Amino acid sequence: MCGIVGYVGPCDAVPILMDGLHRLEYRGYDSAGVAVYHQGTIHVRKTAGRLERLGELLSAEPISGTPGIAHTRWATHGEPSDANAHPHTDPSGKFAVVHNGIIENYRELRRSLIDLGHSFSSQTDSEVIPHLVAVKRAETGDTLEALRLALKSTRGAYALGLITADEPDTIYAAREGSPLVIGIGEKEYFIASDVPALLNRVSRVIYLNDGEVARLTPEGLTVIDSDGRTVRHAAVPIGIAEEAADRAGFETFMLKEIHEQPRVLRSLLDGHVRNGEEIVFDTGTIDRSFLRRVERIMIVSCGTAFYAGLYGKLLLEHLTEIAVECDLGSEFRYRAPKFDRNTLIIAVSQSGETADTLASVRMARGRGAPVLSICNVPGSTLVRESQAVFYTNAGPEIGVASTKAFTAQLMAFALFTFYLGRLRGEIASTQLQELLGALQRVPDAIHYVLNSTALIRGIADKHHAGPSALYLGRRFNFPTALEGALKNKEISYQHAEGYAAGEMKHGPIALISEYMPVICICTATEDELYEKMLSNVKEVQARHGRIIVVANTGDQAAAELAEDIIYVPKVREEFSPLVNVVALQLLAYYAAQARGNDIDKPRNLAKSVTVE
Ligand code: AGP
Repeated sequence: MCGIVGYVGPCDAVPILMDGLHRLEYRGYDSAGVAVYHQGTIHVRKTAGRLERLGELLSAEPISGTPGIAHTRWATHGEPSDANAHPHTDPSGKFAVVHNGIIENYRELRRSLIDLGHSFSSQTDSEVIPHLVAVKRAETGDTLEALRLALKSTRGAYALGLITADEPDTIYAAREGSPLVIGIGEKEYFIASDVPALLNRVSRVIYLNDGEVARLTPEGLTVIDSDGRTVRHAAVPIGIAEEAADRAGFETFMLKEIHEQPRVLRSLLDGHVRNGEEIVFDTGTIDRSFLRRVERIMIVSCGTAFYAGLYGKLLLEHLTEIAVECDLGSEFRYRAPKFDRNTLIIAVSQSGETADTLASVRMARGRGAPVLSICNVPGSTLVRESQAVFYTNAGPEIGVASTKAFTAQLMAFALFTFYLGRLRGEIASTQLQELLGALQRVPDAIHYVLNSTALIRGIADKHHAGPSALYLGRRFNFPTALEGALKNKEISYQHAEGYAAGEMKHGPIALISEYMPVICICTATEDELYEKMLSNVKEVQARHGRIIVVANTGDQAAAELAEDIIYVPKVREEFSPLVNVVALQLLAYYAAQARGNDIDKPRNLAKSVTVE
C-alpha cells in the first residue's frame, strides 16, 4: 500500500525523502512524488511509475528545501497517473498533503468544496484534504487546529503528512486507521508509514494513536487528540537492527527471508520453551482462568495469515477440546458470527495493519471478546488493540510474498496450542515432551530443503510455462497446498489453485491434462491419509497430469507416481507443513525467476493492505 515519508530538520529534505521512499518500495506502488518548502513556496514533483522515474524528473527539474513530504501511491481512487500521484495541494498551492487510506465521504466533501469555488486536478479521494485544511486555516488562523477540524469532517482512514508555505520548519502529521510513526532525531523529526523507512535515521519512535494530530518542528513536538486535548507520548526504541532490512548478499529479500526460516523458528522455540518441558507465554491481560475454561476460539486473518489460521484450527482441535472456527477478515466482519465475551478471538497478521483483520478485531472487542494476536510487528495497531500478543519475532519481512512470517505463525500456533493444552490438562507432560522433541527437528529439516535448491529450481524451470497449476494436500497439509498456490500466483503470475486432495474429484479433476502440473503433498506416511493421498495422485496420473510430489526422503511409492519428486526429511505430520511449505516457496520463487518477474515487487500487490 501507499508509503509516506516526511522530514523536518536542518538538511535538504529531498535525498532523505527519496532514501525513505526506496526503503518503503516493498509496500507496492504505482506512482510517487515529493514536495518541499523553499523560501515561502511549496515545490512539488510527482509522476506515475517507479521511483527511478521520479529520480529522473528530479534531475531534470531539481528542487531542494526543508521540510518535505513524499509518497508512493498504490492506486485505489483513480488510475496511476501524474495527476493522481501525491502530494496533492489546495488551489493556492500553499498546503501540500500526502495521504494513505481512503476518505470514504470524499464525494460529498468535494461537492461542498466545489460549491465554495474550489476546482480539483485529480480523481483521488485524498485531494479534498489540502482543500479542507485551507478552508479551516482561513477560519481559525492555526494550521494544527485547521488540520484537526478538517479531519473531523472526513470519514474513513488516513495517515498523512502536511507542509504549508506559511510555516518554514514545520511538518504536520495525523492518523486514523492507517499506520504512522514519528522518528525522533537530534533537532530533526521524521514521519513514515512504516519503521523500515527510518532505520538508518533514528533509534527512537513514537506511534501516533487514532485521531491524533501532530505538529513537528526542530524544536519539538506537539500532539493533540481529536478533541484538541494535548497528548503526551513516550518515545520507544525502534527495536529493529538496520541489517535486518538489508538483503545480506541474497539476490532478493524474498530469498533471504526464505533462508532465515530455520533461525527464526529456532529462536521462537528458544524464547518459549523452558527445559524442553514447559511453554512460556505471557497472556497479557487475558486471564489464565478464562483460557482454562474457554470452549470456543475464532481465528480471523487474511491471505497467507488466513492459511496459518486454518492450520491453527486443525492443530487446536487436534490437541485440545476447544471448538475452533477460522474466518477471512473481509468475511467475518460482514457475516453474522455468533460469539460473545466467552469466545477467544485470535487475530493473525504479519504487519498488524491489515484493515479487514483490524475491523474484525474491533467488532470482537465491541462484543467484549478478548483478543489474542499473533503478530510480527511490535507497536503495530493490532498489537496495541489486543489483550495478549504472541510475537512471531521474524524480523522485518520486506518481500511482498510472505514466507518467514508464515512459518513463524505456524510455529506460534503450535506453541500456543501446547500452552493451552497444558494449562487445561488436555496435553499430558510426557505428550508435550514428545511434541516438543518433534517440533525441535523442524529447523534442521528446513535446512535440508534449503539445500535442495538446485533440484527445486530445475523442477520450476520445467513446469513454469503452463497456464495453470494445481496444489493438493490433505488435513494439516491442505493449508500448505493453499499457501503454495498463493505463493505461486503472487510472484510467478501462473494461475494456481490449492485444493483438499479428496475434493479434487468433485470438480477440479476436469482441469487435469498433460499440460497441468499438479503438486501433491504426500508426507503423511504413517497415517491413514497417506494411502488416500496416493490414491488421489493416481487419479491425477490416470488423466496424464504432470505430477510433482513432495514426499519424505526415500519414499519409493510416491516416487513411482511422480514425474518429479522433492524429498523432504520426515517430521511428525502435525509439523510437516512448516517443512513442506519451504519447498513450495522455493518452487514459486524459481518459477517467478524463470518468468523474469520482479520477485520482491510483484505487480499489483501491496505488502500491507491497509484499506478494505
Ligand atoms: C502473502 O504473501 C500476502 N502478500 C498477503 O496474502 C498477506 O498475507 C495478507 O495481506 C495479510 O497480511 P498481514 O499478515 O500483514 O495481515
